[in-house]
Amino acid sequence: MTQIPFSRDIKIAPSILAADFANFGAECAAAEAQGADWIHVDVMDGHFVPNITFGPATCAAIRPHIKGIMDVHLMIAPVDPYIDAFVSAGADIVTAHIEAGPHIHRTLQAIRGAGAKAGLALNPGTGVGDVEHLLDMVDLICVMTVNPGFGGQKFIHSQVQKVRDLRAMIGDRPIHIEIDGGVDPTTAPLVAAAGADVLVAGSAVFKGGSVSNPEPYGSNIAKIRQAAEMANGHAA
Ligand code: DX5
Ligand code: ZN
Repeated sequence: MTQIPFSRDIKIAPSILAADFANFGAECAAAEAQGADWIHVDVMDGHFVPNITFGPATCAAIRPHIKGIMDVHLMIAPVDPYIDAFVSAGADIVTAHIEAGPHIHRTLQAIRGAGAKAGLALNPGTGVGDVEHLLDMVDLICVMTVNPGFGGQKFIHSQVQKVRDLRAMIGDRPIHIEIDGGVDPTTAPLVAAAGADVLVAGSAVFKGGSVSNPEPYGSNIAKIRQAAEMANGHAA
Protein backbone atom coordinates (compact mmCIF):
# COMPACT_ATOMS: atom_id res chain seq x y z
CA MET A 1 0.00 0.00 0.00
CA THR A 2 1.19 3.49 -0.80
CA GLN A 3 1.09 5.85 2.18
CA ILE A 4 -1.30 8.75 1.65
CA PRO A 5 -0.41 11.82 3.73
CA PHE A 6 -3.64 13.81 4.01
CA SER A 7 -3.71 17.14 2.23
CA ARG A 8 -6.35 19.34 0.63
CA ASP A 9 -3.99 20.39 -2.16
CA ILE A 10 -5.47 19.80 -5.61
CA LYS A 11 -4.75 16.32 -6.93
CA ILE A 12 -5.35 15.34 -10.55
CA ALA A 13 -6.40 11.72 -11.03
CA PRO A 14 -6.49 10.67 -14.70
CA SER A 15 -9.12 8.00 -15.39
CA ILE A 16 -7.72 5.20 -17.52
CA LEU A 17 -11.21 4.74 -18.95
CA ALA A 18 -10.03 7.28 -21.52
CA ALA A 19 -6.62 5.60 -22.05
CA ASP A 20 -5.60 2.99 -24.61
CA PHE A 21 -7.01 -0.29 -23.22
CA ALA A 22 -4.26 -2.26 -25.00
CA ASN A 23 -1.58 -0.25 -23.18
CA PHE A 24 -2.75 0.32 -19.62
CA GLY A 25 0.65 -0.16 -17.98
CA ALA A 26 2.41 2.29 -20.27
CA GLU A 27 -0.52 4.73 -20.08
CA CYS A 28 -0.39 4.79 -16.26
CA ALA A 29 3.37 5.34 -16.28
CA ALA A 30 3.04 8.08 -18.91
CA ALA A 31 0.28 9.86 -16.97
CA GLU A 32 2.37 9.80 -13.77
CA ALA A 33 5.47 10.99 -15.61
CA GLN A 34 3.38 13.86 -16.98
CA GLY A 35 2.22 15.02 -13.56
CA ALA A 36 -0.72 12.85 -12.47
CA ASP A 37 -1.06 12.62 -8.69
CA TRP A 38 -3.28 9.53 -8.53
CA ILE A 39 -4.42 7.00 -11.14
CA HIS A 40 -8.19 6.49 -11.21
CA VAL A 41 -9.39 3.04 -12.25
CA ASP A 42 -13.05 2.66 -13.28
CA VAL A 43 -14.50 -0.81 -12.72
CA MET A 44 -17.92 -1.38 -14.34
CA ASP A 45 -20.06 -4.49 -14.29
CA GLY A 46 -22.80 -4.00 -16.91
CA HIS A 47 -25.34 -4.28 -14.07
CA PHE A 48 -24.93 -1.34 -11.70
CA VAL A 49 -23.95 0.73 -14.74
CA PRO A 50 -24.68 0.05 -18.43
CA ASN A 51 -21.06 -0.60 -19.41
CA ILE A 52 -18.41 -3.23 -18.66
CA THR A 53 -14.71 -2.50 -18.21
CA PHE A 54 -12.51 -4.93 -16.27
CA GLY A 55 -11.98 -6.55 -12.90
CA PRO A 56 -9.36 -7.29 -10.24
CA ALA A 57 -7.00 -9.23 -12.53
CA THR A 58 -6.55 -6.17 -14.72
CA CYS A 59 -6.02 -3.99 -11.65
CA ALA A 60 -3.30 -6.38 -10.44
CA ALA A 61 -1.64 -6.23 -13.87
CA ILE A 62 -1.69 -2.43 -13.87
CA ARG A 63 -0.43 -2.04 -10.29
CA PRO A 64 3.32 -2.49 -10.92
CA HIS A 65 3.17 0.33 -13.47
CA ILE A 66 1.82 2.85 -10.92
CA LYS A 67 4.27 4.41 -8.46
CA GLY A 68 1.69 6.38 -6.48
CA ILE A 69 -1.93 5.95 -5.52
CA MET A 70 -4.19 3.48 -7.32
CA ASP A 71 -7.71 4.81 -6.79
CA VAL A 72 -10.26 2.12 -7.67
CA HIS A 73 -13.84 3.22 -8.33
CA LEU A 74 -16.22 0.27 -8.16
CA MET A 75 -19.37 0.76 -10.21
CA ILE A 76 -20.54 -2.73 -9.39
CA ALA A 77 -23.32 -4.38 -7.40
CA PRO A 78 -22.95 -6.34 -5.24
CA VAL A 79 -19.65 -4.92 -3.96
CA ASP A 80 -18.82 -6.92 -0.85
CA PRO A 81 -17.83 -10.24 -2.49
CA TYR A 82 -15.11 -8.47 -4.51
CA ILE A 83 -13.51 -6.14 -1.95
CA ASP A 84 -10.70 -8.50 -0.93
CA ALA A 85 -9.83 -9.17 -4.57
CA PHE A 86 -9.43 -5.47 -5.38
CA VAL A 87 -7.39 -4.80 -2.23
CA SER A 88 -5.18 -7.82 -3.00
CA ALA A 89 -4.78 -6.40 -6.51
CA GLY A 90 -3.13 -3.37 -4.90
CA ALA A 91 -5.88 -0.76 -4.63
CA ASP A 92 -4.92 1.99 -2.18
CA ILE A 93 -8.43 3.42 -2.19
CA VAL A 94 -11.57 1.40 -2.90
CA THR A 95 -14.68 3.46 -3.56
CA ALA A 96 -18.15 1.93 -3.47
CA HIS A 97 -21.45 3.56 -4.39
CA ILE A 98 -23.98 4.36 -1.69
CA GLU A 99 -26.63 3.21 -4.21
CA ALA A 100 -25.00 -0.19 -4.80
CA GLY A 101 -26.86 -2.02 -2.07
CA PRO A 102 -28.64 -1.81 1.27
CA HIS A 103 -25.53 -2.26 3.44
CA ILE A 104 -23.07 0.49 2.62
CA HIS A 105 -22.01 0.66 6.29
CA ARG A 106 -20.87 -2.95 6.14
CA THR A 107 -19.17 -2.35 2.79
CA LEU A 108 -17.13 0.57 4.14
CA GLN A 109 -16.16 -1.45 7.22
CA ALA A 110 -15.04 -4.28 4.96
CA ILE A 111 -12.91 -2.00 2.78
CA ARG A 112 -11.03 -0.59 5.77
CA GLY A 113 -10.88 -4.05 7.31
CA ALA A 114 -9.15 -5.32 4.18
CA GLY A 115 -6.52 -2.61 4.57
CA ALA A 116 -7.52 0.02 2.00
CA LYS A 117 -8.82 3.55 2.35
CA ALA A 118 -12.59 3.66 2.00
CA GLY A 119 -14.36 5.84 -0.55
CA LEU A 120 -18.07 6.54 -0.85
CA ALA A 121 -19.49 7.60 -4.23
CA LEU A 122 -22.77 9.44 -4.77
CA ASN A 123 -24.69 9.45 -8.05
CA PRO A 124 -26.01 12.82 -9.24
CA GLY A 125 -29.53 12.01 -8.03
CA THR A 126 -28.42 11.10 -4.49
CA GLY A 127 -28.62 13.62 -1.65
CA VAL A 128 -26.06 14.14 1.10
CA GLY A 129 -28.31 13.33 4.09
CA ASP A 130 -27.29 9.70 4.56
CA VAL A 131 -23.58 10.56 4.33
CA GLU A 132 -23.70 12.20 7.74
CA HIS A 133 -24.02 8.78 9.40
CA LEU A 134 -20.99 7.45 7.54
CA LEU A 135 -18.48 10.29 8.02
CA ASP A 136 -16.38 8.40 10.54
CA MET A 137 -16.02 5.48 8.15
CA VAL A 138 -14.83 7.21 5.00
CA ASP A 139 -11.54 8.58 3.73
CA LEU A 140 -12.98 9.97 0.50
CA ILE A 141 -16.35 11.05 -0.86
CA CYS A 142 -16.70 10.91 -4.63
CA VAL A 143 -19.30 13.27 -6.10
CA MET A 144 -20.35 12.01 -9.52
CA THR A 145 -20.80 14.97 -11.82
CA VAL A 146 -22.09 12.70 -14.60
CA ASN A 147 -24.23 9.59 -14.43
CA PRO A 148 -21.65 6.80 -14.10
CA GLY A 149 -20.99 4.42 -16.95
CA PHE A 150 -19.21 6.35 -19.66
CA GLY A 151 -16.44 8.85 -20.17
CA GLY A 152 -16.83 12.03 -22.16
CA GLN A 153 -20.18 13.14 -20.74
CA LYS A 154 -21.24 16.67 -19.89
CA PHE A 155 -20.62 17.99 -16.37
CA ILE A 156 -23.85 18.31 -14.34
CA HIS A 157 -23.73 21.76 -12.76
CA SER A 158 -26.32 21.06 -10.05
CA GLN A 159 -23.67 18.97 -8.27
CA VAL A 160 -21.54 21.98 -7.31
CA GLN A 161 -23.89 22.85 -4.44
CA LYS A 162 -23.62 19.24 -3.25
CA VAL A 163 -19.86 19.67 -3.03
CA ARG A 164 -20.30 22.81 -0.92
CA ASP A 165 -22.72 21.01 1.39
CA LEU A 166 -20.35 18.07 1.81
CA ARG A 167 -17.38 20.33 2.43
CA ALA A 168 -19.30 22.04 5.25
CA MET A 169 -20.40 18.68 6.66
CA ILE A 170 -16.85 17.29 6.64
CA GLY A 171 -15.39 20.17 8.65
CA ASP A 172 -11.91 19.27 9.95
CA ARG A 173 -12.20 15.56 9.24
CA PRO A 174 -9.46 14.18 6.96
CA ILE A 175 -11.85 13.24 4.14
CA HIS A 176 -11.05 13.95 0.50
CA ILE A 177 -13.76 15.25 -1.81
CA GLU A 178 -13.30 13.77 -5.27
CA ILE A 179 -15.10 14.91 -8.41
CA ASP A 180 -15.72 12.41 -11.20
CA GLY A 181 -17.16 13.26 -14.60
CA GLY A 182 -16.83 16.10 -17.09
CA VAL A 183 -13.86 17.71 -15.34
CA ASP A 184 -11.87 20.04 -17.59
CA PRO A 185 -10.25 23.48 -17.20
CA THR A 186 -13.66 25.16 -17.29
CA THR A 187 -15.41 22.99 -14.69
CA ALA A 188 -12.42 22.30 -12.38
CA PRO A 189 -12.50 25.82 -10.87
CA LEU A 190 -16.18 25.46 -9.93
CA VAL A 191 -15.64 22.32 -7.87
CA ALA A 192 -12.29 23.41 -6.45
CA ALA A 193 -13.88 26.62 -5.15
CA ALA A 194 -16.70 24.53 -3.66
CA GLY A 195 -14.21 22.42 -1.68
CA ALA A 196 -13.09 19.50 -3.84
CA ASP A 197 -9.45 18.40 -3.72
CA VAL A 198 -9.28 15.33 -6.02
CA LEU A 199 -10.23 15.89 -9.66
CA VAL A 200 -10.75 12.80 -11.81
CA ALA A 201 -10.44 13.51 -15.51
CA GLY A 202 -10.50 11.05 -18.39
CA SER A 203 -11.08 12.69 -21.76
CA ALA A 204 -9.63 16.03 -20.69
CA VAL A 205 -6.29 14.38 -19.74
CA PHE A 206 -5.80 11.79 -22.47
CA LYS A 207 -7.02 13.83 -25.45
CA GLY A 208 -4.44 14.65 -28.08
CA GLY A 209 -1.76 12.29 -26.73
CA SER A 210 -0.64 8.66 -26.72
CA VAL A 211 2.03 6.55 -25.04
CA SER A 212 4.40 7.47 -27.87
CA ASN A 213 3.41 11.15 -27.63
CA PRO A 214 2.62 11.72 -23.94
CA GLU A 215 3.42 15.45 -23.70
CA PRO A 216 -0.23 16.49 -24.31
CA TYR A 217 -1.12 14.58 -21.11
CA GLY A 218 1.24 16.88 -19.25
CA SER A 219 -0.15 20.09 -20.66
CA ASN A 220 -3.73 18.85 -20.18
CA ILE A 221 -3.03 18.00 -16.53
CA ALA A 222 -1.28 21.32 -15.96
CA LYS A 223 -4.21 23.28 -17.40
CA ILE A 224 -6.74 21.54 -15.15
CA ARG A 225 -4.51 21.96 -12.08
CA GLN A 226 -3.81 25.61 -12.80
CA ALA A 227 -7.49 26.42 -13.29
CA ALA A 228 -8.40 24.64 -10.04
CA GLU A 229 -5.61 26.23 -8.00
CA MET A 230 -6.49 29.71 -9.24
CA ALA A 231 -10.05 29.17 -8.03
CA ASN A 232 -8.69 28.00 -4.69
CA GLY A 233 -6.74 31.19 -4.24
CA HIS A 234 -3.32 29.58 -4.68
CA ALA A 235 -0.70 31.16 -6.87
CA ALA A 236 -0.70 29.15 -10.07
C1 DX5 B 1 -17.72 7.60 -15.25
C2 DX5 B 1 -16.33 7.37 -14.70
C3 DX5 B 1 -15.41 8.54 -14.83
C4 DX5 B 1 -15.12 8.91 -16.20
C5 DX5 B 1 -14.68 10.34 -16.28
O1 DX5 B 1 -18.50 6.52 -14.93
O2 DX5 B 1 -16.40 7.07 -13.33
O3 DX5 B 1 -14.20 8.30 -14.13
O4 DX5 B 1 -14.13 8.11 -16.76
O5 DX5 B 1 -14.49 10.60 -17.62
P1 DX5 B 1 -14.51 12.04 -18.24
O6 DX5 B 1 -13.44 12.83 -17.53
O7 DX5 B 1 -14.24 11.80 -19.67
O8 DX5 B 1 -15.87 12.62 -17.96
ZN1 ZN C 1 -14.60 7.01 -11.78
